[in-house]
Amino acid sequence: MKITLLPGDGIGVEIVDAAVEVLDAAAKKFGMTIEYDKQLIGGAAIDATGVPLPEATIASAKTADAVLLGAVGGPKWDNVAPEIRPEKGLLGIRKALGLYCNLRPIKVSRFVAHLSPLKNERVSGTDLLIVRELTGGIYFGAKNEAAPDADGVETASDVEIYTRPEVERIARFAFEAAKKRRGKVTSVDKANVLASSRMWRRIVGEMQAQDYSGIELNNFYVDNCAMQLVLNPGQFDVVLTNNIFGDILSDEASVIAGSIGMLPSASLGDSTGMYEPIHGSAPDIAGQGIANPLGTIYSVAMMLRYSLDQDAAADAIEASIDRVLEKGYRTPDLCGEGLTKVSTSQMGQLIAAELA
Ligand code: NAD
Ligand code: IPM
Ligand code: MN
Repeated sequence: MKITLLPGDGIGVEIVDAAVEVLDAAAKKFGMTIEYDKQLIGGAAIDATGVPLPEATIASAKTADAVLLGAVGGPKWDNVAPEIRPEKGLLGIRKALGLYCNLRPIKVSRFVAHLSPLKNERVSGTDLLIVRELTGGIYFGAKNEAAPDADGVETASDVEIYTRPEVERIARFAFEAAKKRRGKVTSVDKANVLASSRMWRRIVGEMQAQDYSGIELNNFYVDNCAMQLVLNPGQFDVVLTNNIFGDILSDEASVIAGSIGMLPSASLGDSTGMYEPIHGSAPDIAGQGIANPLGTIYSVAMMLRYSLDQDAAADAIEASIDRVLEKGYRTPDLCGEGLTKVSTSQMGQLIAAELA
């Protein structure tokens, strides 16, 4: 199997190293032969080549069985031209691979539920899946950053745009996912204000009536959903939403799981799947060896399940994470009294050893 590795920037490098240590241990145990192809993306690619998404990176990803990404961005590149920002590299590879579906599962591990700032009884048992549309909406609509007009007034705009086929394919993913879960979809929009949301809500409703009458469908406005997520996260099964709302709600939902460092994601679509934690490059802690690699390691488990057809290896990784947490090892974001603080790489080594 060929895996394209895109460590990127900041903690991206440290967490991908830790995740590869675990993947190597899984490969050994389950008899997989993995060939890695490390490529540049984001700020690291800008520094080396002048652009955030070199052709070689796209070519490698397109011919790989899966892509594992760390994170991109950082203050060093915050003032480069908008077309070559590190984040453009990430958006570009999602588009190039046709990855319109971003799955962000939020499951509260019993070993960290008490570390959430939310009350234990509210968060424990939470198991929801955010299905985020990833290649449309305001991220990809027309942008305009105009120079000041004759009166010196500056204007900038971003267009939120969706087509019916874009909504249908992501909604289908969510309904199908709900079939295999608890049979409930909450579609999140802002249909009281946005035309794109009104079309979104109408299409999702039509699909439920026509093809998914066995699935319970609720429509929430995004502001209410943000509140309900922390008030009563247990009410959600599959949360279906657009690109920008899914981005924001998933960071919010990470609080339920104790730390943003815990959450993985899978981006799926027309070709190679890409796997990455939901968090960013965390410039505030980069290079210190204290980042939590579990979101990336859980992403490796998703990769084994969705792209590599290695369910047993995925299960074994998740079970090994549980055993390491049960023994009390934690990176600093999750550490507390009576627990043993470990570094990013030690966490990777512990899980790899547990697997072996
Ligand atoms: P961030 O997710 O990088 O960090 C937010 C906070 O969470 C920080 O306090 C950070 O220390 C903490 N954190 C994040 N990941 C952690 C981990 N694994 N372990 C422990 N703590 C962790 O978000 P930000 O600070 O808003 O963005 C920083 C840069 O990352 C920006 O350039 C942004 O564009 C980029 N970004 C990239 C991605 C991606 O590549 N997928 C995602 C989000 C943000
Ligand atoms: C994410 C990130 C990206 C997004 C940025 C870095 C482009 O926040 O993957 O959640 O907004 O999709
Ligand atoms: Mn985000």
